[in-house]
Amino acid sequence: MNLVSIMKKRENIAWEFNDFSKNYTNDMIGCVPHYLELVASFGKYLPDNFNPTSILDLGCGNGNITGQLIPYFPNATFTLVDASKEMINLCRHRFNGDNFIYQNKYFKDFIFSKEVYDLIVAGFSLHHLDDKEKQSIFKDINSSLKQGGIFSYSDLMISKTNPDHSNLLKEWNKFVNVSFPDGEKWRWIMEHYEAFDKPTDYMAQIDWMKNAGFKKIEIPFHKGYWVYLQAVKN
Ligand SMILES: C[S@@+](CC[C@H](N)C(=O)[O-])C[C@H]1O[C@@H](n2cnc3c(N)ncnc32)[C@H](O)[C@@H]1O
Repeated sequence: MNLVSIMKKRENIAWEFNDFSKNYTNDMIGCVPHYLELVASFGKYLPDNFNPTSILDLGCGNGNITGQLIPYFPNATFTLVDASKEMINLCRHRFNGDNFIYQNKYFKDFIFSKEVYDLIVAGFSLHHLDDKEKQSIFKDINSSLKQGGIFSYSDLMISKTNPDHSNLLKEWNKFVNVSFPDGEKWRWIMEHYEAFDKPTDYMAQIDWMKNAGFKKIEIPFHKGYWVYLQAVKN
C-alpha cells in the first residue's frame, strides 16, 4: 500500500469499522489474543465499593465493554462514543432504555465535559490514536472524571519500535492461524495494523497518565503486551 492510500485510509477509520462490524465479536476472539479475558477484566477488577452512576465508553464498537458492565451497574447511565455509524447502530439494537446515550463521533469532536463521569472505559480503541493524541485524550479523560473516578483501559501496549515487537508479531500470527489457518485473515490484520494502529508501550502511557493528573495506576491483568489497566483520579 502506498503512502497516499495509507493517508486516505487513515481518514477513514469509521469506514473501516463499518465493514469490520459485520462479524465483529467472532473476529475479535479469533484475532486478538486474550480478548475475552481482557473484556471480562472491565467488570472483574473494579473495587468492590465502587458504584458508578455515569459511565463513558470510548470507542464502544458493538458494545462488548458496556455489555460487560451492565450486570454490575444496571442503573448507571452509559454514554457510548464511536466514529463508526454501523457500530453505534449495533449498540442501539443491543441496548434499550433511556439510560443509553449515543454519540456517533470521533474522539476529537466529542465534548469532554468537566467532572461528569464516575467511570471512563476504552477497550481496544485508543491504539488508533498517535502518541500526541493519546497524551491529549488522557488529559480530557482526567478532566471529565469526577474526583475518585476511574479510567479503565485495555489494549495492545507495545510500540512498533520496541525491540520485542517482532516477537509479538510472531506470537500473534501463530494465535490467529489457529482460528484462520489459510493466512488470509492475518494478511488483513497486518494491512489494518499498518494503516490504522499506533500502539504505544505501557510504560510511556503510564507516564502520560501521571502527567495528565492520575495518581494511582495499576495493571490488574496482562498477558505480555495485551494489557488491562486502571487509573484513579484523586
Ligand atoms: C477494535 S474496536 C473496539 C470496540 C470495543 N470497545 C471492544 O472492546 O470490542 C475499536 C473501535 O474504536 C472506534 N474508534 C477508533 N478510533 C476512533 C476515534 N478516533 N474516534 C472515535 N471512535 C474511534 C472504531 O470505530 C471501533 O469501533
